[in-house]
Amino acid sequence: MRRPDARSPLDDLVPAVRHWQPAAGTFPLRDLVRVTADADADTGAAGPPLPVLAAGWLSPALDRVLDMVVDPRVALADGDAAGALRLRRDAALPPEHYRLVIAPDRLGLWACAQPGFARGLATLLQLCAGQPDGALPCGTVSDGPAFAWRGLLLDSGRHFQPVRTVLDVLDRLAAFKFNVLHWHLTEDQGWRLEVPGLPRLTEVGAWREQQQGGRHGGFYTADDVRRVVARATELGITVVPEIEMPGHCQAALAAYPELSCTGGPFAVQTQWGIFPDIFCAGREETFAFLEQVLAHVLELFPSPFIHVGGDEAPKDRWRACARCQARIARNGLRDEHELQSWFIRRVGRWLAARGRRLVGWDEILEGDLAGSLPGAVVQSWRGLDGAVTAARAGHDTVVSPTSHAYFDYDPGVLDVARVLAFDPVPPGLAPAEQARVLGGAANLWTEYVPHDRLDAQLFPRLPAMAEALWARPAAREAGAFLRRLQGLEPLYRALNIRPGVAARPLALDAAWDPASGSHTVRWSLVGDLGPLVAGPRPDVRYAVRPAVATAEAPLAVRATLMVDGQPCGAPAVIELVRHRALARPVTVAASAGAGDPRLLVDGVLGSRQRDDGRWFACACCDLDATIDLGEPLPLLLVHVRFLQDANAGIFLPRSVHVLLSDDGVAWRPAGDCTHDVPDRVQERVIVPFSVQPAATARHLRVLAMSSGPCPAWHPEAGRPSRLCADEIVVHDRRDLDRDGLPAPGEIVLG
Ligand code: ACM
Ligand code: ZN
Repeated sequence: MRRPDARSPLDDLVPAVRHWQPAAGTFPLRDLVRVTADADADTGAAGPPLPVLAAGWLSPALDRVLDMVVDPRVALADGDAAGALRLRRDAALPPEHYRLVIAPDRLGLWACAQPGFARGLATLLQLCAGQPDGALPCGTVSDGPAFAWRGLLLDSGRHFQPVRTVLDVLDRLAAFKFNVLHWHLTEDQGWRLEVPGLPRLTEVGAWREQQQGGRHGGFYTADDVRRVVARATELGITVVPEIEMPGHCQAALAAYPELSCTGGPFAVQTQWGIFPDIFCAGREETFAFLEQVLAHVLELFPSPFIHVGGDEAPKDRWRACARCQARIARNGLRDEHELQSWFIRRVGRWLAARGRRLVGWDEILEGDLAGSLPGAVVQSWRGLDGAVTAARAGHDTVVSPTSHAYFDYDPGVLDVARVLAFDPVPPGLAPAEQARVLGGAANLWTEYVPHDRLDAQLFPRLPAMAEALWARPAAREAGAFLRRLQGLEPLYRALNIRPGVAARPLALDAAWDPASGSHTVRWSLVGDLGPLVAGPRPDVRYAVRPAVATAEAPLAVRATLMVDGQPCGAPAVIELVRHRALARPVTVAASAGAGDPRLLVDGVLGSRQRDDGRWFACACCDLDATIDLGEPLPLLLVHVRFLQDANAGIFLPRSVHVLLSDDGVAWRPAGDCTHDVPDRVQERVIVPFSVQPAATARHLRVLAMSSGPCPAWHPEAGRPSRLCADEIVVHDRRDLDRDGLPAPGEIVLG
């Protein structure tokens, strides 16, 4: 048995290999200068010639990791030739399996077809990256995937990615042995595929106005798609295109409003959410349009699977549409939900007649899918129930639940340990039903992810998903996995990957102690990384800035979790402010709803994260807060920050009014404040409201007037909006006397 300190680089590969048989000796990497493929390893119709594969991907990446030139003119040669790496065919290996033999004087890679070679080359690349100036240990890797579908959804609708970026995503997928790029090409906020004969899809549908001015958008031409598909094929990756229907199609309706129930007009949507205008199921023109689009899609994408979405389609318009109602009556359907399954079935049969299988989100299970569309694949996203229902009904299923697979979520919500724990096979399925689980996928929705931030969302969670789907390990210890992730740094450099954070494992909390006049900051562990540090007490390092805190520049405490001397995950930050209303008695008018009013005077500021527990929220009513300052104070400044997160239905107050009183009964106005921030911005914004009363008073009242229900353009139009208020910061004349700055707060780290 090897000692623990005698780790082989093979032990650290991500995803883990199935089997490694060590042998004596090493292969010096400086000898890796040429790649040859046996003529019979050229798999012909099964993919592009192997030399193309090796030259297009492996060689440049190796050049970067080894800092030397690997001959890109890969020769097709029988026999040994001069190649240090020889690709050879083994027809007995299952698809995607490979065998990599590392001998002192050569490397041999066997596979039955293109994808197997690509997986073996991914292993080789990672091994080489991990040993930049050394040698590979001799032995044999025998490897293959646990699941046949290992996917990533890339949402190009919300934010457009240049083709170069999509190609980079393919490289990243190949490096971690993924085999499906699920390319989400159409959305409310943008149609991304040029289609002959439908010019307005890209003239109109590919562009949206931006609040900050200008347009966002772009689209892929047939040539762009061919480049992506060709590259994917080299890498053994299937590109599954998604053309979304019947919902999430407002960009298409902006181009062709005659495909809607109401006739429009529509603009390409600028807000995120779910929108009521969807394709009219009663008009034949809708199906003529979709068939024209899909016919082009089938020409461009060789994938056996075509995704048609099917999720989140509100039925309001269908309920009010005479054509849709006539369709329901003509076909003996019960309601609009049956109309949706009729719609999906019709498109599914059209695809099946052309040899393709429909994939849809789990909403397509509503209605009788099983009897009518046997080859359909159900992608389960609302938990695992969709996968269970699909498998029991005899459908293949791909599993990508929000709980484990939504890479648009912040790593504080979905951390690496959670992804690593993902198993796509729901508990309780019989063996035959388990076989229906093709695999799993990560979904990267891009509402908040412009193309230059993809890496930060994908990494290091993508390698964790690779581990779950390729290796399906029995043991999933987060600490050991995080250490293996550190070994990926050279590979990240070779592929220009700029990873984000693995987790946000620390939470900071602060309590004001009036006796000592200081805040005590405490930390706790959160998320699935908790067990990692449950043993010996972890080392938490604090940094504090600035030396002096003001309402504008609060005291920021920053803490980093250190495990084995290494920073683990992102730092936590808490911002503290000391002021005259701190910890004073506060009351809030009863209508303000839930929430602890003491949040308004606890000295802790809210962050851009609306659910950080530091914001005081009122649902669709004004905030009316009263504070007893304890004694008459010569008031100078009242300063309250409010949060706007339009997508979450949180809007700034229309105005803020400060009132003063000596007895808490009779109030006199002391100043007002408004703002000029548009409500229709995508970003979360924190806006300060300040009033300078210049009067003496014991009691202070802050009235923040709600902006009312969500505005007409909002997906939640007419529903209650929320108001989120931060600390009510109060300074008096004495604060100004000290060099124009409030007194510094002190903190005690505990
Ligand atoms: C989905 O996230 N709406 C599939
Ligand atoms: Zn209609």
